[in-house]
Amino acid sequence: MARIDEKTTSEIVAAHGAKPELLVQILANIVNRFGWIPEETVRQLASELNLSRADVHGVVEYYHDFRTTEPGKHIVKICQAEACQSMGSERLTAYAEKALAMSLHDTANDITLEPVYCLGNCACSPAIMIDGKTFGRVDEQRFNQLIDAMRGDD
Ligand code: FES
Repeated sequence: MARIDEKTTSEIVAAHGAKPELLVQILANIVNRFGWIPEETVRQLASELNLSRADVHGVVEYYHDFRTTEPGKHIVKICQAEACQSMGSERLTAYAEKALAMSLHDTANDITLEPVYCLGNCACSPAIMIDGKTFGRVDEQRFNQLIDAMRGDD
C-alpha cells in the first residue's frame, strides 16, 4: 500500500469540495488508498476542513474500518457476526490467534488480524477475508492453507 502524503490528502479533500460534511467519505477514501489514518492526517484534515481535531477524531473512532495504526502488508479478517458464530468462528478465531501468534487487532510479521461483522457470506459460514478476498466454510485446515497461499504470494 502506498505511503500517505500531504499532497494526496489535500487532493482527496479538494475532490470532495473541501466540505466538512463529507468527512466520512474523505476518511474512507484515505483508508482505501493508504490503509490507515495517521495523526498528522487527522491534523491536516481538521485544518483543511475547518474542523477541530476532536471532531475528526470522533468520526475516526466511531468507525471500525478507520484504522489509526499502520496495518501489515496482509489483512486477515475473521467474521464475528451471528451466522459465523453459530458455525464456529470463535473457535476459528482462537485457532488463528494461536497459529499467527497474535491477538485480534494486532499487527505482527506483516499481518494484521481483525474482527469483521458480516462479510455477506453467511450461507458459507464461518467466513474470513484475506486481503479483500472472501473465503467461506473455513476450518482450521483451510485457514492454514489460505495463510500459506497468502505467504506464498509474497
Ligand atoms: S455472519 Fe459472517 S458472513 Fe455474515
